[in-house]
Amino acid sequence: MSNLEQQVTTSPPGPFLSVRDLSVEFSTEDGIVHAVDGLSFDLRKGTTLGIVGESGSGKSVTNLAILGLHDPDHTKIGGEIWLEDRELTGADRATMERLRGNRISMIFQDPLTALSPFHTIGRQIGEVYRKHRGASKKEARERAIEMLSRVGIPQPATRVDHYPHEFSGGMRQRAMIAMALVCDPDLVIADEPTTALDVTVQAQILDLLKELQQQTGTAVILITHDLGVVANTADDILVMYAGRAVERGTVREVLTEPRHPYTWGLLSSMPRLTSSVDAPLKPVRGTPPSLLSPPPGCPFHPRCDYPELAGPELCRTQRPEISPATGHGDACYLSLRQKTEIRTAQIEDHA
Ligand SMILES: Nc1ncnc2c1ncn2[C@@H]1O[C@H](COP(=O)(O)OP(=O)(O)OP(=O)(O)O)[C@@H](O)[C@H]1O
Ligand SMILES: [Mg+2]
Repeated sequence: MSNLEQQVTTSPPGPFLSVRDLSVEFSTEDGIVHAVDGLSFDLRKGTTLGIVGESGSGKSVTNLAILGLHDPDHTKIGGEIWLEDRELTGADRATMERLRGNRISMIFQDPLTALSPFHTIGRQIGEVYRKHRGASKKEARERAIEMLSRVGIPQPATRVDHYPHEFSGGMRQRAMIAMALVCDPDLVIADEPTTALDVTVQAQILDLLKELQQQTGTAVILITHDLGVVANTADDILVMYAGRAVERGTVREVLTEPRHPYTWGLLSSMPRLTSSVDAPLKPVRGTPPSLLSPPPGCPFHPRCDYPELAGPELCRTQRPEISPATGHGDACYLSLRQKTEIRTAQIEDHA
């Protein structure tokens, strides 16, 4: 089969997950927290979308909404989340429980919060398989051993009877990946899956995820602070700021021709991605806005170096939407020409 034919058969057209105008609001004693506001994005089957953004930008809240894990008493969710032909924000609890662990699963930053200390690794992986597949205890144990072997745990037939505390941090993360993949899900959400691990183990885990994804065709949402991780692992990127999408595109588009001033800021604060080794690292100046009372206009304008270029009042009063509607887009009023000029000057400054 030619490469082209392979692409056609493995990636059918149309998004597999489609998030439309998602909003997530929390009622708190201090008021309403607008954690996610008007967020839209698509994920294609079998691909990896990296979601990046500073702490508090709404990455985890977005993904908990996809998983249906918010507390309904304190959370108001608006917009739509389509998983193929099924809308999830309106789905009942039983439906979401059936989907979680089976069609959609999650890999958390800290496996110890997801794994119980009281049961063996094998039992925990096997339970997920039994719950969703109705497998017998024996089948579930065999499946757990097979999964441990697939995620590169040595002596899986022995390790299956060990408890989480008998595993190293990297092995626990592998076990959690085994648990997430045990039912061959269509979508895996990995929220900072490697930040708790040292750099070498991080790289091994990310390679493993990528390899398993290539074998199974699972779609992955990879949440991370680290643009370097996204560069090596993802196909597409969504940059979030204050609960909104500020830029999206392929990894290549966003990393080589970033368009939004916030993305420029993120890139210049990343050691591995600056154009010259000696380029100074600059964190994005200022702090993210309060989500209790987000600023009017562009949420990034108080920290932006160029609000006056787009017209004196525009950025302060009107909220930019991401455009164009598909492909590489960003939510900023500067013209493409202005952005190219600014970016060229920045790169020359750093060279
Ligand atoms: N249950 C909640 N009640 C009130 N506010 C919340 C709740 N959960 C999250 N938030 C707020 O929503 C905002 C977005 O949080 P979120 O956890 O999605 O950020 P994040 O992008 O995942 O950050 P990090 O990179 O630190 O994980 C934050 O301001 C957070 O304080
Ligand atoms: Mg988070």
